[in-house]
Amino acid sequence: MYNSKIIGLGYYVPENVVTNDDLSKVMDTSDAWIQERTGIKERRHVVKGDGDTTTSMGVKAAKVAIERAGIDKDDIDFIIFATLSPDYYFPGPGVLVQRDLGIKTVGALDVRNQCSGFVYGISVADQYIKSGMYKNILVVGSELHSHGLDMSTRGRGVSVIFGDGAGAAVLSREENLEKGILSTHLHSEGQHAEELSLIAPGMGKRWVNDIIEDNDPNDESYYPYMNGQFVFKNAVVRFSQVILEGLETNNLTPTDIDLLVPHQANLRISQFIQKKFGLQDDQVFNNIMKYGNTTAASIPIALTEAWEAGKVKEGDLLVLAAFGSGFTWGSAIIKW
Ligand code: UT7
Repeated sequence: MYNSKIIGLGYYVPENVVTNDDLSKVMDTSDAWIQERTGIKERRHVVKGDGDTTTSMGVKAAKVAIERAGIDKDDIDFIIFATLSPDYYFPGPGVLVQRDLGIKTVGALDVRNQCSGFVYGISVADQYIKSGMYKNILVVGSELHSHGLDMSTRGRGVSVIFGDGAGAAVLSREENLEKGILSTHLHSEGQHAEELSLIAPGMGKRWVNDIIEDNDPNDESYYPYMNGQFVFKNAVVRFSQVILEGLETNNLTPTDIDLLVPHQANLRISQFIQKKFGLQDDQVFNNIMKYGNTTAASIPIALTEAWEAGKVKEGDLLVLAAFGSGFTWGSAIIKW
C-alpha cells in the first residue's frame, strides 16, 4: 500500500483576454452585473484559427507539469483527461495526449464529470497508485468553452461565466502514508442532470440527424443550459458537506486547513464557504476574476498558480473541492 502525491503542476491559458466590457459589446450585459454576481473581470478565449484545442491546451499544461515533476514522459504509466469540451465526440482527448506527447502505449482514460472532473481524475489516479498498479499518472483538466457558447443576449446567463484553459498534475508514488493524498470523496445526484447540461448532440433527446434536418437557428439544445439559482443553492450545500466529509474522515477540523482550492464557479460561492468554515482570505485561493469558470481546468489552474505563488508549502493541509453538472461533487484532502 502506498499514497500518491502531486509532484508536478502546470497550466496553460490562451493569450486572448476577453473583458466584461468586450462581452457587453455583443450582448446585453455589463461589467457591473458580471462582477457583482460572479466576481469575474475577464476570461481567456481561444481565437478561432489559432489552432488551440482542448487537447493542445492540455498538452501544453502537461508538458510543464511533467518537466516540473522531474520525470521523463516515458515514466508516465497512465493518462487521465477530464473535460466537457472534447476535440471530438469520440475518441476522447486522453488518446490524443498520448499521441501528441509521444508517450508509449499506456492506458488513457477520459473523465466526463464536468466541474468535478479533475477531482474525479485525481481520485482514480490515487487508487491506481495506492494499489501499486501504476507509479506516475498524468491527470489533465482542459476546456475550450468559447466556441460552443451562445454569445447573444439569449445565452448571457451562461456565456459570461465560462472561459478556456488547461491545467495538469503528475501524481506519483509516495511511501510515507502520512503525506500526499490522504483521501478523496466523490458524489453524484443524476436527478438534477438537466439543470446544468448540454443536451445535443447526444443520442438521447436530440438526435444528430434531427438537428441537421431541422437546421433551426432557434434550437438551443446544442448550447449549454444552466438553472443558475438552483445550481448555486445546491453548490453551497454540497461544497460544505463534501469538505466536512473529507476533514472528518481524517479526524481533522476546518481549523486544520492551510489552503482551500475550490472549483472556481462563482466568487460568491467561494466567499460563502470561506465564511462558513471561518477561513482567512489567504486560506482560500481564487482566480476566477482572471479566468472565469474553466470547469475541469479550474482546480488544476488555481492549484498551479497557488503553488507558483508559494502558497503551497511542505506539510500544508490542502483541500480541493468541486461541484458541477451531473450533479457531481467531490473533495480531496492532501498533506503536501
Ligand atoms: O461550475 C458549475 C457550477 N456552476 C455554478 O455553481 C453557478 C451557480 N450559479 C451562479 O453562479 C448564478 O446563478 C449566476 C451567476 C449564473 C446568475 O446569477 P443570479 O444572481 O442567480 O442571477 P439570475 O439568473 O437570477 O438572473 C437575475 C437577472 C435576470 O433578469 P430578471 O429576470 O431579474 O429581469 C437575468 O435575465 O439577471 C439577468 N441576467 C443578466 N443580466 C446581465 C442573467 N445573466 C445576465 C448577464 N448580464 N450576463
